[in-house]
Amino acid sequence: MATWTIKALLDWMTPFLADTQVDSPRLCSELLLTHVLGLRRIELYTQFDRVLSPAELASLRSLVKRAGEHEPVGYLVGKSEFYSIEFDVQPGCLIPRPETELLVQHAIEAIRGYGDNPQVLDLCTGSGCIAVALAKNCDRVQVTATDISGEAIAIARANIHKHNLSERIELLQGDLLAPLRQRRFDLVVCNPPYVSTCEFEGLDRNVKDYEPELALRAGDEGLDIYRRILQNIGDHLTPEGVLMMEMGFQQGTALCQLIEQTGLFQEIAVKKDFEGHDRLVLAKTESS
Ligand SMILES: C[S@@+](CC[C@H](N)C(=O)[O-])C[C@H]1O[C@@H](n2cnc3c(N)ncnc32)[C@H](O)[C@@H]1O
Repeated sequence: MATWTIKALLDWMTPFLADTQVDSPRLCSELLLTHVLGLRRIELYTQFDRVLSPAELASLRSLVKRAGEHEPVGYLVGKSEFYSIEFDVQPGCLIPRPETELLVQHAIEAIRGYGDNPQVLDLCTGSGCIAVALAKNCDRVQVTATDISGEAIAIARANIHKHNLSERIELLQGDLLAPLRQRRFDLVVCNPPYVSTCEFEGLDRNVKDYEPELALRAGDEGLDIYRRILQNIGDHLTPEGVLMMEMGFQQGTALCQLIEQTGLFQEIAVKKDFEGHDRLVLAKTESS
């Protein structure tokens, strides 16, 4: 009978998950093992010869089966890393994506240029990943985060609590800008749903079958939520306010046009992600 050490399991799981077309099969295998054994990833390598107990093997087997059916590893282990911070995730919220770190990076730069106590709004907060990353990295900032989904709000609340940020991040549930009444912000950041009807049909199974449709779809061209935000954004920005929104890599031209049509912004710039794709639009009410 085979002895299932950590090394033997990694050597078995990685090609198994690769054969089922799971992305990053080695990383996925490591994350499942660390979850079952309560170890950090580095500890897998310092305990390569550790033999798993029958109970550990049984729970690992069930997770590997689900991963092979394309259930996202973040949901299987209940957490995901974003901007080097650990977040709880559950099927009610989108799993934070590495490309969204670009928005956080630009937001932090903008916040550093503001005076005391800048007010930031994170629209469509999901797991709360952007709000938490900003509050953790910028001591003086006060963040308001909103989402329409009760499930997402509950997960965001857990993440804000986990990182001791309840005093600096306020959470509101509601439709886009509606819960904010007359309030204005120095910086509005947003990673909204932006997947078009056609793109949605072609999404990978791990996204389409498991992540919330509400977090992804935004009408035929994927622009519906941007249009709705832009209708009222003028009522929620300070005179020097800045708007930053993530976008799909083919949406730059259309989104810039929508932003220009508001007549509110002096400067509009598109930023590329680490793969060289258009990913972020920055709109400033005043040119700098
Ligand atoms: C693409 S996810 C982004 C989540 C998170 N900010 C991130 O970057 O991982 C979009 C989020 O928008 C929320 N959402 C969808 N429609 C909304 C609406 N009309 N008003 C407020 N939030 C909405 C979804 O519930 C989802 O959490």
